[in-house]
Amino acid sequence: MAYRIPKTSAQWAVVGQNGLQDLQLQEVTIPPLGDHDCLIKVEAVSLNFRDIAIIRNQYPLPVNIPHIPTSDGAGTVVAVGARVKSFKVGDKVSATITPIHLAGRIDFEKVSSTLGGGGTDGWLRQYATYEEQGLVPIPRNLSAIQASALPGAGISAWNTLYGSENTSSAVTRIKPGDIVLTQGTGGVSLFVIQLAVVAGATVIATTSTSSGKKVELLKSLGVKHVINYNEDKNWGETAKRLTPNGVGVDHVVDVGGANTLDQSLKAVRFEGTVSVVGFLADDGNSGSGPGLMSTLARAITVRGVLGGSKLQLEELNRAVERLDLKPVIDEKVFEFSEAREAYQYLMEGRHVGKVVIKVE
Ligand SMILES: NC(=O)c1ccc[n+]([C@@H]2O[C@H](COP(=O)([O-])OP(=O)(O)OC[C@H]3O[C@@H](n4cnc5c(N)ncnc54)[C@H](OP(=O)(O)O)[C@@H]3O)[C@@H](O)[C@H]2O)c1
Repeated sequence: MAYRIPKTSAQWAVVGQNGLQDLQLQEVTIPPLGDHDCLIKVEAVSLNFRDIAIIRNQYPLPVNIPHIPTSDGAGTVVAVGARVKSFKVGDKVSATITPIHLAGRIDFEKVSSTLGGGGTDGWLRQYATYEEQGLVPIPRNLSAIQASALPGAGISAWNTLYGSENTSSAVTRIKPGDIVLTQGTGGVSLFVIQLAVVAGATVIATTSTSSGKKVELLKSLGVKHVINYNEDKNWGETAKRLTPNGVGVDHVVDVGGANTLDQSLKAVRFEGTVSVVGFLADDGNSGSGPGLMSTLARAITVRGVLGGSKLQLEELNRAVERLDLKPVIDEKVFEFSEAREAYQYLMEGRHVGKVVIKVE
């Protein structure tokens, strides 16, 4: 199928970090394709907490200004450079969030290539050019809207439960019968829940309420116990008591950061693992969290997780396709012109599941 390639593309750009007024709509010329480039008609972009942290100047890693935001998207290849071998016009693709992290150990250079604020422009535009090496086919069971949810939240969830080639599988790899504790109903936690349940684990999840949509969603995904962390400030100890003989959970996926790590460490069993993924509960005065010496008495492994490689994204996509997993998408999908409204919706925490912007 031949596609009509326009000369220009609309894009949202982050021109500063003072809030949503610094997210600006622009019209730019589409540059000529390099030999290894694919031109992608973007169809869907999903937002992450990182995107709002960047625009509010609350992101802890270095950010390039200006840039095209968002690390997660999906679309159709509409043109390819002369030497592109892996993709052809018409293929549905997504991209790894760190385009030069193909496999193996992550390092500063790879982290610095991250889409949407690192060294590479993101997806929030009508047409995006990416080198073929960072692209992956989307799972065949997913629409572009669903597939756009996988590269950031999905890959970090996969990395927490399965690790990479460089992490000891004895520490990270989930096993049937494990007990996993998750926090909240954000994108990462929901993927962790879905992946843990299909792996045969029991999931205990915290959330901000005791009833309603969020609790129903958690139960429908297979969560066994739900704890309201607003009512139960000792939710980590509660989770521990819910495990057989009160020994503690095998794996905590901590997305809260310095303010939740203390309870995460209380929840975990001897030689259990706490994956440190995010900083949602950080109020700016949180310090660095509990002291590391608290890990000694129970031989706990605390592991930081930073995205994942292309190889890990391919592994995730294979699992999603073969197990027919469907990412949880919020009921409200935004139009491209409503990007600021989508950011605002995420900032106000009105979402359940991934916030997606449809691009036409
Ligand atoms: N390291 C990595 O590679 C990586 C990758 C992706 C994301 N992250 C980070 O991981 C964190 C989660 O990202 P996300 O995209 O899943 O976020 P998200 O979708 O915006 O998650 C928001 C949800 O988290 C829950 N939440 C909010 N504050 C909380 C708190 N104090 N304690 C527990 N739960 C809380 C709320 O759900 P309830 O109302 O149900 O509690 C809220 O709806 C962020 O800090 C993000 O930057 C890191």
